[in-house]
Amino acid sequence: MPECYARSCKLSARPGQLTISCAVPVSAAWPLQMVETDGGIRAVDWVWCDAASGRAGAMVPLPADTQSVRGRGIEVIIAANWKMNPPLADAAALAVAYAADSFDGVTRILFPPAPYLVQMGVRLDGTDMLVGGQDCHHNASGAHTGDVAAGMLADCGARVVLLGHSERRADHGEDDALVATKAAAALSAGLDVMICVGETLDQREAGSAEAVVTVQLEGSVPAGIDASRLMLAYEPVWAIGTGKVAGVEEIAAMHAAIQQWLAKRDLASVPILYGGSVKPGNADAIFGVPDVGGALVGGASLKAEDFNGICSAGARAAAARS
Ligand code: PGA
Repeated sequence: MPECYARSCKLSARPGQLTISCAVPVSAAWPLQMVETDGGIRAVDWVWCDAASGRAGAMVPLPADTQSVRGRGIEVIIAANWKMNPPLADAAALAVAYAADSFDGVTRILFPPAPYLVQMGVRLDGTDMLVGGQDCHHNASGAHTGDVAAGMLADCGARVVLLGHSERRADHGEDDALVATKAAAALSAGLDVMICVGETLDQREAGSAEAVVTVQLEGSVPAGIDASRLMLAYEPVWAIGTGKVAGVEEIAAMHAAIQQWLAKRDLASVPILYGGSVKPGNADAIFGVPDVGGALVGGASLKAEDFNGICSAGARAAAARS
C-alpha cells in the first residue's frame, strides 16, 4: 500500500492541511512516515483515506494562513454548525454534497465535530468552504482532559472558531469573561473568531433583550480586537432548534443595536450573522434585513438540500447588495 501511494500520489498543500490525491483507490488508514511538500520533508502522524474518491488527508502542521476569512472580499457568510451530529458516514456524504456546489458572493464555513476536522477539510479541499472548530480551550496546552487547544484546531485545518454559543454557555457554564479569554487564545493561534450572543425568552419578554446582548458583547469581545478577525452571530436562544424564528423587525432592531455597539469601537466592518431556525423558506427574508451579514445554521445544515437552499438565498442577497 505505501508503495502504490508513493508512486501514484499528488500532494497539494494549503494552510494547515495537506491533501494527497491518489490515482489508486485506497481504503484504510495506515501509518506513513514522511512526505515531501513545498516546505520540505515533513513527518506525518497518520493519514486518512477515502476509497470512493481516492483522496486522502494527512495531519501535517503547515504554516498558518494569516489572511482572515473575511479578507476574501465576500459579502455573505453562511456557516453550518453541526453541533454533536451526525455519524461520520453521514458527515462524509454531506461534505461531498456541499463540495458539489459553490455560491457567488457567499463564503461558507463548516463547523464539524472536532474529530472530523481533518476528514471534512480534505473533502472540502479545493472548494470555497472553510472548516472551523466549535470551541477551543483558553490555554495553549496543558492538563485539560477532553479539551482542544486553538492551535490544535489550526493544525487540523481550521481557519476560525465558534465561541460563546448558547449551548456552551448553558451546558458548560461558560461566561462572557471565559469567552473573551478563549477568543484571545484563538487569535494568538492564527484563527478568526465567531462570537455568539443572544437572549433567552424570559429576557426578551422582560424587555431586556438589547441590554443582555450588550452586556454579552462588552464581556465576550476582547478589547482592541482586529475587526478583520471577528464575526458575530446573534442567536436568540428561544429560536435555536425550536422552529421559532425571530421576526424581521426583531432581527432588524437587534442587528442595528449590535452595529451601533460595533461602530463605537471601530469595529463597524464586522459582519453580524443571524442564527436560530434559519431555513430555505425564511432565508431570503432574513438576508433582506439591513445589517444581517449571513447566517449560522444548525439543524438545516444537516440536510444538503436545505443548506444549499440557504446558500442560494445568500447568493441572491449578495447579488442584490453588490
Ligand atoms: P438551528 O441552530 O439552526 O438548529 O436553530 C442554530 C445554532 O445553534 O447555531
